[in-house]
Amino acid sequence: SIEKSLRPQTLAQYIGQDQVKHELGVYIEAARKREESLDHVLLFGPPGLGKTTLAMVIANEMQVHIRTTSGPAIEKPGDLVALLNELEPGDILFIDEIHRLPKIVEEMLYSAMEDFYVDIVVGQGPTAHPVHFPLPPFTLIGATTRAGMLSAPLRDRFGIVEHMEYYVVADLEDIVKRTADIFQTSIKPSGAHEIARRSRGTPRIANRLFKRIRDFAEVADQDAIDEMIVNRSLTYLRVDQDGLDETDNKLLRTMIEYYDGGPVGLATIAANIGEETDTIAEVVEPYLLQIGFLKRTQRGRVVTIKGYQHLGLAYPSNN
Ligand code: ADE
Repeated sequence: SIEKSLRPQTLAQYIGQDQVKHELGVYIEAARKREESLDHVLLFGPPGLGKTTLAMVIANEMQVHIRTTSGPAIEKPGDLVALLNELEPGDILFIDEIHRLPKIVEEMLYSAMEDFYVDIVVGQGPTAHPVHFPLPPFTLIGATTRAGMLSAPLRDRFGIVEHMEYYVVADLEDIVKRTADIFQTSIKPSGAHEIARRSRGTPRIANRLFKRIRDFAEVADQDAIDEMIVNRSLTYLRVDQDGLDETDNKLLRTMIEYYDGGPVGLATIAANIGEETDTIAEVVEPYLLQIGFLKRTQRGRVVTIKGYQHLGLAYPSNN
C-alpha cells in the first residue's frame, strides 16, 4: 500500500537522525559480520519521530523477522511467553511504550534479555510446578517517549541506547518531497519548506499535513503545491505560523492569563486546559521547550519572552 511505502526500508532511505543512523549502521554491520543477534536497542524520543519505522528498518537490515507489540498490550506473563515462543534465532521483538509494561512482565524480561530464558509456573494448585523455558537469542527493541520513565534495571539491560531528536527543517523538507513523490503530486520547493517549517519537527505531522494540503490543492485545481496553498490550507487546519496547534496555544495562553506565565505544575495546566497530563508531558510540552517558548524551573514551567511574543502579548517587566 501507499501508506506502507511511505516508510523507508533501509538506513540509506531513512532521512535525518544522522547520529542514530550512523551508530546503528556500525552495530548492525558488526553483528552481521560475527553472525550474532544484535544487542538489545532502546529508542527514546517524542511520538511521531519514526521509532517504529526505525525498528522495522533494523529488522530489514539484519534480515530477520520482527514482531511488534506495545507495553499495555502485554497484560500478563503468559502474553510475553507466547510472543517470545514464536521467535526464531536473531529475530526482533519490538515493544512500543515499553515504560507501560506491567511490573510482573517487566521482571520476566530481565532473564529473557540477559540469558535468554524465562522461568514460568505451569499448572494450578497442587499440580503447579516451575518450568525453565529456554529462548532463542533474540533482539528486544524498546521504544519510549520519556527518558525518566524507565526503571534502572530495565534500562541497564539495553546495550544500545539511542535518543531521537526533533527533525531539522531541511530534513523534513526532504521527507515531504519524498512523500509528494510517492503520492505523484508536484510540490514547489517553497511549498515543501513551508510544510516542513510548520510540522513541529515531526515527520508524522508533516506527512499528515501534506495529505490534507494535497486535498485542498486538488479541489482548487492547482497543479503544484506552493507556499500559498500551504498557507491557506494551514489556516483552515488551525496550524499557526510557528506550526503550533490549538492545544499548544491554549496552554501558553492559560499559563499567561491564569498564572502570570508561571511557574506552574504540569498537572495544574493539564486540568485547566482539559488534556491528559501524559499528553502534555509527552507531546505538547517537549516541543514548546525545544523552540524556547517554555522553560523548566525548580518550581514548575514558565512562559519565556519568546512565548509571550508568539501570542503578541507584552512580557511583564515587574518581576
Ligand atoms: N517518512 C517518515 N519519516 C521518515 C524518515 N525519517 N525518512 C524517510 N521517510 C520518512
